[in-house]
Amino acid sequence: MKILMVCLGNICRSPLAHGILEHLANSKGLGWSVESAGTGDWHIGHAPDERSIAVAKKYGVDISAQRAQHFTPALFDEYDHIFVMDENNLKDVLAQARHAQDESKVSLFLEEGIVPDPYFDSTQFEPVYHMIAERCEQLVEKLTGQNQV
Ligand code: 4NP
Repeated sequence: MKILMVCLGNICRSPLAHGILEHLANSKGLGWSVESAGTGDWHIGHAPDERSIAVAKKYGVDISAQRAQHFTPALFDEYDHIFVMDENNLKDVLAQARHAQDESKVSLFLEEGIVPDPYFDSTQFEPVYHMIAERCEQLVEKLTGQNQV
């Protein structure tokens, strides 16, 4: 299973989703490949935001070695599922889809609602962490079981 997490900057939300799902999958020996990317290009090559690194570390997940990459259409070929954090990410990723098969790989990370961008509000990193972690647990259940996402 190859999964790509996408947000705007690839420094706050998608690095958390990437790190948490990778950590869960590795702990269960699932052999999954998890990555992340941003629809914006400002932070290419940067480590995650220090507030995301800190909240992940608090819960035993090390995301400090991640480096931001820019979303490109070639990534549609590499992943089975592409999960986006909000409607803007959804619009920006779908705009780059080349055909229906690309589109079919893309969905909102949360089944209902969005993961709000915590970049301008430091108090949101903790709730965003939990929102993402809970959904990552569900994704492991669904993608390893009969149910698809
Ligand atoms: P992210 O948050 O999409 O969760 O990584 C953001 C990080 C940086 C910016 C916007 C959102 N920015 O405008 O630089």
